[in-house]
Amino acid sequence: MIQRVDFHNPFDTGAAYINVEPASSLSFLEVEEKDGHILFTGKLNEKDRIYGLGESMHGLNKRGYRYVQFNTDDNNHRDSMPSMYGAHNFFVVASEQQARGFFFDYPGRLIIDLDSKHQNTFTVEAETNDIRVYEIQGKTPYEVVKEFLKLIGPSYLPPLWAFGFGQSRWGYDSLRTVEKVIENYKKAGMPLDYVCLDIDHMNKYADFSVDTKRFGNLQLKEKNIHLVPIVDAAIKIEPGNPVYEEGLKNNFYCTDKDGKPFTAYVWPGATNFPDFLKAEARTWFGSLYKFYTDKGIEGFWNDMNEPSIFFSEESLKESEKERLSDPLYQSGSGHPSDYKRFYHDVNGKKINHFYLHNLYGMKMVEASNEGLSKLLDKRFLLFSRASYIGSHRYAGIWTGDNSSTWFMLQRGFEMLPGLNMCGFLFSGMDTGGFMGNCTRKLLLRWLAVSVFTPLFRDHSAKGTIHQECYRFAGKSSFRNVLSLRYKLLPYLYSEFMKAALRADMLIKPLAFVFDKDPQCQDVQDQLMVGESIMIAPIMKKDQDSRLVYLPEEMTMVDYYDRSFHAKALSQGSHRIKIPLSHVVFFVRKNHLVPVSLKGGMSVSEVDFDNLSFLGDGTSYEYYRDDGETREAGLEKIAEIKK
Ligand code: GLC
Repeated sequence: MIQRVDFHNPFDTGAAYINVEPASSLSFLEVEEKDGHILFTGKLNEKDRIYGLGESMHGLNKRGYRYVQFNTDDNNHRDSMPSMYGAHNFFVVASEQQARGFFFDYPGRLIIDLDSKHQNTFTVEAETNDIRVYEIQGKTPYEVVKEFLKLIGPSYLPPLWAFGFGQSRWGYDSLRTVEKVIENYKKAGMPLDYVCLDIDHMNKYADFSVDTKRFGNLQLKEKNIHLVPIVDAAIKIEPGNPVYEEGLKNNFYCTDKDGKPFTAYVWPGATNFPDFLKAEARTWFGSLYKFYTDKGIEGFWNDMNEPSIFFSEESLKESEKERLSDPLYQSGSGHPSDYKRFYHDVNGKKINHFYLHNLYGMKMVEASNEGLSKLLDKRFLLFSRASYIGSHRYAGIWTGDNSSTWFMLQRGFEMLPGLNMCGFLFSGMDTGGFMGNCTRKLLLRWLAVSVFTPLFRDHSAKGTIHQECYRFAGKSSFRNVLSLRYKLLPYLYSEFMKAALRADMLIKPLAFVFDKDPQCQDVQDQLMVGESIMIAPIMKKDQDSRLVYLPEEMTMVDYYDRSFHAKALSQGSHRIKIPLSHVVFFVRKNHLVPVSLKGGMSVSEVDFDNLSFLGDGTSYEYYRDDGETREAGLEKIAEIKK
């Protein structure tokens, strides 16, 4: 059961997809208003667990920490970071007999304290008192999540090719370099479906431009590979550039206190920020993608859309003063004061950015999605760094600038179910890690996790060692794990589409599926992927075996030498050996996993009709379509027999 209560005049964020009539009071929260702020307090039992919060640190159970929901570009990912790139203000309190879900639909800064002081209470504090709160009651956390997913609507649908493997790196400086990467993958016998173009491809980092000297007209020799360019939020101030000029002429930029376009510095130097809160500015920005779609490009990533601001003239002066007066001064990422320096035009009303901050990324992907939907008559790839609840209807997300550490592999893994609880089915991490230097061992173990995430991309930062799979010794191990992805695609795509069409999760905690089994409640290092598969990867440096808990009898599948080796295992704990070149996963009893034994060097080569099956089940609900039609629907699911 969902209940909504509005306090004062909440901003219409667009998070909800269905309308719930407002009620007069909340059932589970105490409310206190003081000096224009609002504070909600909820009670917890000693043993309650709290799931949710999408992109955030601290593992599956979020209890015991304080979170600041304010979209932030900070590449020093660590446990003590209170904010990440997305604000996903939804969590579920799981008690023994019932579950209560809370969604705080609020576009500004929100402080969520999930019992960090161990007083058996949680608090949520908003900057102002205009807020919309939803409470959802159910028997189990999973039931509550499914209600919430209905509230926020269906997931964005990527094309089938976007489920292939993608290579990316900040620093690919010419089309020739990109073509060499493609050639090297081919030579190494490793599959590949797309290569991302980072800001390097642009002309002086100006959006919707290409440095033709280095990148020509973005035409690849290899026709089976897609190029996926980055599009950043801010527009370079560049008199004479029609993109910049058009935005200026039509008042499409956010303004400063004097009504002039707000100027701050990001990759291109001085920039203006499109006012994505304004419908006409969104339509304009969306139409700019024609620059790429005319060249046959059908995939994009939206970045720097928290928005990330390096500094403005004013904040530079401020920090200079601070630096001189404080010997311990450390410059963080960006200057929060800049978020109070500009304004949006919302239906003619000027609103300070600070109060709408968390919507900027969502409104950018809404603009991109709507523009691309007009320009293309099929599905396109689109994923974003910043997000808010509801963004999943327009694009996927990746978890930002992680680092090449075992710690971030674990944290990224634990984030996956939280993202799914908030609708972000099409998500994934920078495989191998973005910051720092990746090692062969780390990359292989990371690939063995990401092979199960819908967005499967290897990405790294300029200045770090190159981490394309063919760079490392023992290429057959890399060929092995990548080939698995292509053989599993019939299952992964079908499960993704079913979850999307039924407003369900794809990646789930064990506790959601085996809710009667107390041993599953605290399992953090095993997850369910779709209805049939459980994964339990190795995420520690020197391990080559681990304990795996099987809540029921399952078929263990050990994938090595590019073939499947199955073995039945009884319910209970098992020590499983997983050599570096293997991928091991488990198939539930009475379930099937359809696979294409032929696999492929790209998604287009995978045979989705001649299937083989893993597992001891007898039938499977298979979703099948052409991989690009927008008319995806439940009628495309058919029961198939082994
Ligand atoms: C940001 C992005 C990263 C990208 C870099 C350069 O840090 O998160 O993925 O490579 O900018 O564009």
